[in-house]
Amino acid sequence: MGNRKLYLSILFQCLLFEHAAQADPGDFIFVKVADFARCFDLVAVLSRSDNYSLSFPSDIHISKNELNEICGIKDLIQEFNDPTDMDAITLFPYDVEIDDHDDYDDEDIKIPNLSTSEVHDFLWTYAREVPLEYHDDIATIICYIRHNFWYHSGSGGSTVHLGSDDEAVTKYTKIHNEAKLERKREKELQQKAKRRIDHINSQMDCLQDDKISSEERDREVLSLSKRIQTDLNTSYPRNFITVQLLGSFANGLSSQTSDADLTALDTSNYLTIQTLAAVLKRRGYRNVVPIPNAKVPIVTFKDPRMNILCDMSINESVAIENSRLIKTYGAIDNRVRIIWFSLKQIAKRYGILSAKKGFLSSYALTLMLITYLQTVTPPILPDLQQQTTNRMVDRVINGHNCSFDRNWSNHEATARMNTDTPAELLLGLLKFFGYKFNYDQWEVNTRLGQFLTMQMSVDSWNMCVMDPFMVTRNVAGMVRESNVRVIKEAFQKSYTALMNEDWYTATNTSY
Ligand SMILES: *[C@@H]1O[C@H](CO)[C@@H](O)[C@H](O)[C@H]1NC(C)=O
Ligand SMILES: *[C@@H]1O[C@H](CO)[C@@H](O)[C@H](O)[C@H]1NC(C)=O
Ligand SMILES: *[C@@H]1O[C@H](CO)[C@@H](O)[C@H](O)[C@H]1NC(C)=O
Ligand SMILES: *[C@@H]1O[C@H](CO)[C@@H](O)[C@H](O)[C@H]1NC(C)=O
Ligand SMILES: *[C@@H]1O[C@H](CO)[C@@H](O)[C@H](O)[C@H]1NC(C)=O
Ligand SMILES: *[C@@H]1O[C@H](CO)[C@@H](O)[C@H](O)[C@H]1NC(C)=O
Repeated sequence: MGNRKLYLSILFQCLLFEHAAQADPGDFIFVKVADFARCFDLVAVLSRSDNYSLSFPSDIHISKNELNEICGIKDLIQEFNDPTDMDAITLFPYDVEIDDHDDYDDEDIKIPNLSTSEVHDFLWTYAREVPLEYHDDIATIICYIRHNFWYHSGSGGSTVHLGSDDEAVTKYTKIHNEAKLERKREKELQQKAKRRIDHINSQMDCLQDDKISSEERDREVLSLSKRIQTDLNTSYPRNFITVQLLGSFANGLSSQTSDADLTALDTSNYLTIQTLAAVLKRRGYRNVVPIPNAKVPIVTFKDPRMNILCDMSINESVAIENSRLIKTYGAIDNRVRIIWFSLKQIAKRYGILSAKKGFLSSYALTLMLITYLQTVTPPILPDLQQQTTNRMVDRVINGHNCSFDRNWSNHEATARMNTDTPAELLLGLLKFFGYKFNYDQWEVNTRLGQFLTMQMSVDSWNMCVMDPFMVTRNVAGMVRESNVRVIKEAFQKSYTALMNEDWYTATNTSY
C-alpha cells in the first residue's frame, strides 16, 4: 500500500537536499515555491506515464493536496517545519523559511547549504529510515527532474539503469543503500569481534602470568629429582637406576600447583613398586603410598621440604619421550603455552579434567590442543613425527617408534605465518570440539597431525585420542560413555560464554 503522505514528504526533503548542493558553504540558495510545485507536477506526470514503472504512483495524492500549486507547497512546508504526523521522518536538518515578497507568485524558499557531516547524516538517515520500497522511485524521479527540468545535476553523483531501464540517481537507490547498510553492519560486527578478542587476549595473558610456574619452582622440582636420584644411588649402589622427570615439569606446561611426575628407569630388574616405596619411606618422604595395581603402577608421596606431591613410576621410558615431544611443540610457538593454561582452566571449571572420574587427562587435552594447532590454516604446529629423514632423530623404545624432529627452531618461522591471536585460536578450538568434532567416529591423531576416522574399533572406547608413540593406545580410553556429552557441552558452553565476553563464566577466574 505505502503511505503517500510520508512518501511525498521524503521526496520533498530530497528536493531540498538537491537544491542545498547549489548553495555556497555557509550560505543559502533561494528557490521559487513555484519551482517545487512544478516538480510535483512532473511527479504526477511520471506516475501516469507508461514510460516509467513507479511502484508508488502518487498523482492522485498530489492533485488532492494541490502539491502542484503554490498553496499546496506552502502547506507541505508548514507540515515539514512542524510535523503533526507521528511517522514523519526527518532527513533535512533545518526548517525552511519562505522569503516574504510582495509578489505572492514570486516567493522563494530559503534553503541552507549543508556541511559535510550534515550531508553524511542525511544520506545515512535516508538509507536507514526511508522504507526500502520507496528508494528506487525517488532515485528515478530525482534523475528525471535533473535532466528534464533543472538542467543542473543537483547534489551530483553517479546514475544507474534500474531493471526497467529507468535511469536513477545511484545514491537514492535501494541496491546502493542496502549494500551501504550491509557494509556498515559488517564493520560493526568486526569491531565488536575485535573488542571481544582483545578482551579475551588480555584475560589469557593474565591467567598465564598467574598460573605459570616460576623458574624457581622449576629449579626446585629439578633439584628434588636429583635428590631422589642420590637417594636411589645410595640404596642401590651397584645398580644403575636413572630418575627422570615426566609430565608438566618435563614438557614445559607446569603451573605453580602441578604435581611432579617422575619415573625410575631400572635396567637391572631390581626395583618394584613395593621396594621403591620402601626406599622412599626410609629416605624420609611422607605419605608414601604404593599403587601396584594401577594401569601404570606408581608410588605417590610428598616431599616434606618443598611440600610438593609426587607420582613416581618405574621404566616409563616412552613417557619421557612424550614429554620431550610436547616440550618441542611448545617451544615452537609460545601461543601453545598461553592457550594451554586457559584451556586447562576451562576444562577444570567444567569438571572435565579428571581421568580418575572418567573424563580427560591433562595429557589427552594437551594432544587435542596440539593436533588442533596442527590443523589450523596455515598450520601453527608441524607434524614432528613425519619430517624428512635428515631431521628425524631415530629412537625405538620397547618396540615403539619414538623418532621425531627434536629441533624446534626448524619450525618457528612457519608457525609465525599464522598470525591469529591466542584468543582467536582458543575460540576456534572450543568451537571445533563443541560443534564439529565427531566424538563417535573420529580420533585425534597427533602422530599423523590430523583428526581422522577412527582407525581401530574398540567397543569400550567412547572417545579417541591416540598416543603419538604407542600407536594402539587411546589416551582417552577411560572416558565414560555418559561423559562424552558432558565434555562436548563444556566446549559449547565455554565457547558461548567467551563469545559473550563472559570470561568469568568460562573460567571462574577474573582479572
Ligand atoms: C554545500 O556546499 C559545498 C561546497 O560547494 C558542497 O560540497 C556541499 O555538497 C553543499 N551541500 C550539499 C547539501 O550539497
Ligand atoms: C514517453 O515516451 C514517449 C515516446 O518516447 C514520449 O513522447 C513522452 O514524452 C514520454 N513521456 C514522458 C513522461 O517522458
Ligand atoms: C647416581 O649414580 C649414577 C651411576 O653410578 C651416576 O652416574 C650419577 O651421577 C649418580 N647421581 C647422583 C645424583 O648421585
Ligand atoms: C624395567 O626394565 C628392565 C629392562 O630394561 C626390566 O628388566 C625390569 O623388569 C623393568 N622393571 C619393571 C618394574 O617393570
Ligand atoms: C619411525 O617412523 C619414521 C616416520 O614415520 C620412519 O621414517 C622410520 O623409518 C621409523 N623407524 C623405525 C625403526 O621403524
Ligand atoms: C636446529 O635448526 C636450526 C635452523 O633450522 C639450525 O640453525 C640449528 O643448527 C639446529 N640445531 C641443531 C642442534 O641441530
